[in-house]
Amino acid sequence: MLKPGSSGPWWRTAAIYQLYMRSFADGDGDGIGDLAGARARLPYLAELGIDAIWLNPWYPSPMADGGYDISDYRDIDPLFGTLADADALIREAHALGIKIIIDVVPNHGSDRHPWFTEALAAGPGSAARERFWFRPGRGPGGDEPPNNWQSIFGGPAWSRVTEPDGSPGEWYLHLFTPQQPDFNWRSPDVRAEFEDVLRFWFDRGADGIRVDSAALLAKDPTLPDLPPGPQGPAPEPFNDRDDVHDIYRSWRAIADAAGGRLLVGEVWLPDAARTARYVAPGELHTVFNFPYLISAWDAAALREVIERTMELGDLSGAPATWVLSNHDVDRPVSRYGRAETWFDLARRPYLHGFPVDRALGTRRARAAALLTMALPGSVYIYQGEELGLWEVQDIPDELRQDPIWYRTGGEDPGRDGCRVPLPWSGTEPPFGFSLAEGARDPMLPQPKEWRELTVAAELADEDSMLRLYQSALRLRRSLAAFADGGLTWQPAPGGVLSFDRRLTDDHGPADDREPADAAVRCIANLSAAPIALPSEATVLLTSSPLADGMLPPDTTVWLRL
Ligand code: GLC
Repeated sequence: MLKPGSSGPWWRTAAIYQLYMRSFADGDGDGIGDLAGARARLPYLAELGIDAIWLNPWYPSPMADGGYDISDYRDIDPLFGTLADADALIREAHALGIKIIIDVVPNHGSDRHPWFTEALAAGPGSAARERFWFRPGRGPGGDEPPNNWQSIFGGPAWSRVTEPDGSPGEWYLHLFTPQQPDFNWRSPDVRAEFEDVLRFWFDRGADGIRVDSAALLAKDPTLPDLPPGPQGPAPEPFNDRDDVHDIYRSWRAIADAAGGRLLVGEVWLPDAARTARYVAPGELHTVFNFPYLISAWDAAALREVIERTMELGDLSGAPATWVLSNHDVDRPVSRYGRAETWFDLARRPYLHGFPVDRALGTRRARAAALLTMALPGSVYIYQGEELGLWEVQDIPDELRQDPIWYRTGGEDPGRDGCRVPLPWSGTEPPFGFSLAEGARDPMLPQPKEWRELTVAAELADEDSMLRLYQSALRLRRSLAAFADGGLTWQPAPGGVLSFDRRLTDDHGPADDREPADAAVRCIANLSAAPIALPSEATVLLTSSPLADGMLPPDTTVWLRL
């Protein structure tokens, strides 16, 4: 039995802030965010009202993919600071009542990881190569890749190495860039290594782990070609294979033994039932809700995703997660400001062809935020979402960093546009991003218009997005109706979502919350017409002002009944 606010695992209802360190806050003035900057800004996050921070990879890395190419899983990249700085961040966050979730990347390492260097030197057939996927090429001279798999970031998924004697040699598999060789999870060394890495960070105080590319680890060892044409529903030989679940059963045991740490998986699968298998008892605790993130701004589409999410939760016992953005997708203001609002990674080049109506996108992003924070489960907030930042689509080509841009020859604009450094204060770039005097330019250029979206400007404006997030997070924390539980749909006109949150019978009211009988109704108007509100309800919060007592289009309201 869970008591809201007091007992029950924290992650079932937590608001989790995603901190992408490179663009959060720069402490040492090199134009790249770091641990000193993050530590200095912890009070801002405490004030925002979040329960936990998820940090993207902070390990030593050649940064071929923003740190998702790791060369040492037990240290911190000097760009960000030291292991002592990481310990200090964890300690200081804990002192503020904030949990820390770190990112572990088990599918692939860096080509500078000592194991890969060793494998190159050891040559074909060696035990060192068994930790990766090395294979001879096909065709005359082995000049063709071992199979037809393509990299998720564009180009072939195989690269050829030069053997120690200087001859053209074997090929190795990399589902992402060539600088990110895939580990072979059939190797006992790989399993033992990552189990130890988990224990290392749990011992240092990490409260949870986000598992990168969680469905990709297991591969069909025969490495078969993919059939030509569009892929059917059957799992690909490198994605969502049954044997991947063994790995998470062993990880769960480690997380449990460490005193109940969280495992949250990055699982991008079209099939909800297959996704649910990752949160089966004894595996991961939660997975990111990508169907919700990519959904169009459309009441029927959103309702379907919400219903499906709740059903899967009922089956697995895992709480839902609600995610509007992260470091891999276009920012919501831009997504919702285009004529087509359904997002998908593969659609990004196409979607960038649409003009963005920022005022409309912002209005909808505000409405989406209140809808999201009213749903039962945990919620993820990607840094800058709370400021209403938009996707920066006009980054000069020569400043782009994302390997997706390079590997697709610029056809896919990639993810730099959601990774532009945050504006903190002032009226000119770098907007207080760097805390040190005489700092270098931020690692990606900030739009001049962000002078209106700095933290300082938004704190001074009661109607800002930041103030909306603060108010919503505070209410979400303090109202008993928002405790762990379900939702009850209410009748509503077309284009409108209406549901109640209420404490269920098995939850006693926590001391610091409202009485158990105070229900909260969330109504999101995605239709084109204003709608009347129920009489005898008190308005707790609206995403945009009511108009003559009516709920205008693209607006969400929280009501106390
Ligand atoms: C995940 C990360 C993404 C990274 C990729 C490869 O999808 O979210 O940023 O590029 O894995 O590690």
